[in-house]
Amino acid sequence: MSDLHFKSEKSVLFPVDAFKELPAHIEGRPFFVTDENVSSLYKDRIEDALKTKDGYTMSAGEASKTPETLLRILGQLKENNLTRRDTLVAVGGGVVGDVAGLAAALYMRGMHFLYVPTTLLSDVDAAIGGKNAVNFCGVKNLLGTFYAPDHVLIDPAFLHTLPRRELRCGLGEIVKHAALCEELFDKLNVQRDLFDLEFLSSLIPQNIAIKRRFVEADPLDRDVRRALNLGHTTAHAIELAGTHLSHGECVLCGIRIEAELARWHCAADEGYLDELDALVKRVLGESNCDFDLSLAARLARFDKKNGENIVCICPKARGEYVRLELAPEEYEKELLEIGGAL
Ligand SMILES: NC(=O)c1ccc[n+]([C@@H]2O[C@H](COP(=O)([O-])OP(=O)(O)OC[C@H]3O[C@@H](n4cnc5c(N)ncnc54)[C@H](O)[C@@H]3O)[C@@H](O)[C@H]2O)c1
Repeated sequence: MSDLHFKSEKSVLFPVDAFKELPAHIEGRPFFVTDENVSSLYKDRIEDALKTKDGYTMSAGEASKTPETLLRILGQLKENNLTRRDTLVAVGGGVVGDVAGLAAALYMRGMHFLYVPTTLLSDVDAAIGGKNAVNFCGVKNLLGTFYAPDHVLIDPAFLHTLPRRELRCGLGEIVKHAALCEELFDKLNVQRDLFDLEFLSSLIPQNIAIKRRFVEADPLDRDVRRALNLGHTTAHAIELAGTHLSHGECVLCGIRIEAELARWHCAADEGYLDELDALVKRVLGESNCDFDLSLAARLARFDKKNGENIVCICPKARGEYVRLELAPEEYEKELLEIGGAL
């Protein structure tokens, strides 16, 4: 694929009120995609802003990130006679953004796409970088494209209705960014209440800047962008194994486990890894982190990023990461040992 296929978001905007700002960025007719939770809170405001009731509301959660949901959205776009000159508006968390983004990329080979992220995780991570996907055949994000929104409208006011657990999920990706950026790591370490909304809102621009630094250096994820997968090989394996934990919580567990792998294999800075572990534990709090690590280790082989071996991006020292490649049997054995010790 040529680099010309990568379309970067034209702008990331921080309006005082996303709904007031939306109409200024619509091309042609709007069609919105959201999920049932966001709809129950914001449907009237979405419809008022867009002056249309044309939209699709999916069930909430990762279970909706499927080709079936994608095809339903595409069917609705056709039924409503939308064209590529019209605008698909996604209002929701990372699941809505990923599925709607793929629909916008595929419909008539690409229509206008606006994204209003409504979760902390999507503010700091999923809305940036132009990736979209659905899960397929038991593999996370197996079908997807690079197709960034024309504009991303970030409004931290949405965080006021977000359950604490979803804030924790967003913090999962923020801690990942902190493992790649010392300054953010220090900010988190001195903050007493990590769940304070004013504090979290203030972190959004810095997190976007960190993600953009990696994305712009390697838009198609062939090299340095892979740093953003820190903790994610194990996180995706835990998700695949079936767990009550959300994506962000799996990321936090993945960071803990991959930090231990770095301790064993990569001459990592022990003192730093202890500090990082303490930070992850503060975010996880009382979360129940019981999951089937043995199954997760076996399923890691199906992660699309892995070839014959399992590749982990592990934290190593302040702001530094290391790529670790392990044979599947070795990864499985070590995961079980680490799991027992955590
Ligand atoms: N494309 C990317 O670069 C990228 C990056 C990171 C993660 N992701 C993907 O993002 C997904 C996770 O995103 P997420 O954590 O936002 O999950 P999500 O979209 O499932 O949202 C989490 C929950 O919060 C609810 N919700 C959303 N906004 C709300 C609000 N303002 N108030 C109350 N409830 C609200 C949703 O209905 C849902 O129940 C995963 O599928 C992950 O793979 C994509």
